[in-house]
Amino acid sequence: MTLRKISKEQPETFEFNSESLAEANNIIKKYPKGKQQSAVMSLLYIAQKQNDNWIPLSAMKYIGKFLEMPYVKVYEVATFYTMYNLTPVGKHFIQVCTTTPCMIRGAYKIVEACKEKISENENELVKEKNCSWMEVECLGACINAPMMQINDDYYEDLDKDKTLKILDQIILGKTPEPGSYRGRLNSEPENNRKTLLDVKNA
Ligand code: FES
Repeated sequence: MTLRKISKEQPETFEFNSESLAEANNIIKKYPKGKQQSAVMSLLYIAQKQNDNWIPLSAMKYIGKFLEMPYVKVYEVATFYTMYNLTPVGKHFIQVCTTTPCMIRGAYKIVEACKEKISENENELVKEKNCSWMEVECLGACINAPMMQINDDYYEDLDKDKTLKILDQIILGKTPEPGSYRGRLNSEPENNRKTLLDVKNA
C-alpha cells in the first residue's frame, strides 16, 4: 500500500450540478436542524461521482461552504477514508484487496496481473486504456478471496489467469460477468450448500 497523494493538477472551481444538488439537499434533510455537517461523507461521495470518480480540493472547499463547516474538517475526512480518490482514476478503476485473507489466497497474483496489463505503478492513470489500479484494504468479500473490485462490481475467487482474462475484457471496453469465478453462488461452499437444507420447517 503506497501513501495517498493529492493530485498536483487541480481544477480551480467546483460546484454541484443540478442532479448532485438535488441529491445533496435530500440527504441533508435526513439530519436534524443544525446537524447538517453529518452529511459530509455522503456529499463527498456525490462530488466524487460527479467528478469522474475523484475529489479535487475545490470540491472539499465547496462542500465546506455548503455545510457551513471549516474546509480543513472536510479535508480531514476526504484524506482519511480510502474510498475517496484524491487523484484522477481510470474510467475502469480496479481495486485489489491485499488484506490478510486475500493475501494468503493469492492477492499478489492479482497485483501481478494488474502490473502486466495496466501499469507497473499503482495509482497511475493509463490514458490509452482508461484504466488505473490500486491496492486497498478489506472489501468485505473475504470468504470469496482473493478478489478485486472494478468500478461498482466485485470479481471473486480469482487467480492470475482469470484476472488477466477479465482485464483484457475491461480494456476492450466490455463488462465481464461479476461474482465468483469458481462458480459459487454468493458465498456458498463449493459443490453446493451442505447445511440448513430443510427450509420447509424453518
Ligand atoms: S480480506 Fe480481501 S475482501 Fe476481506
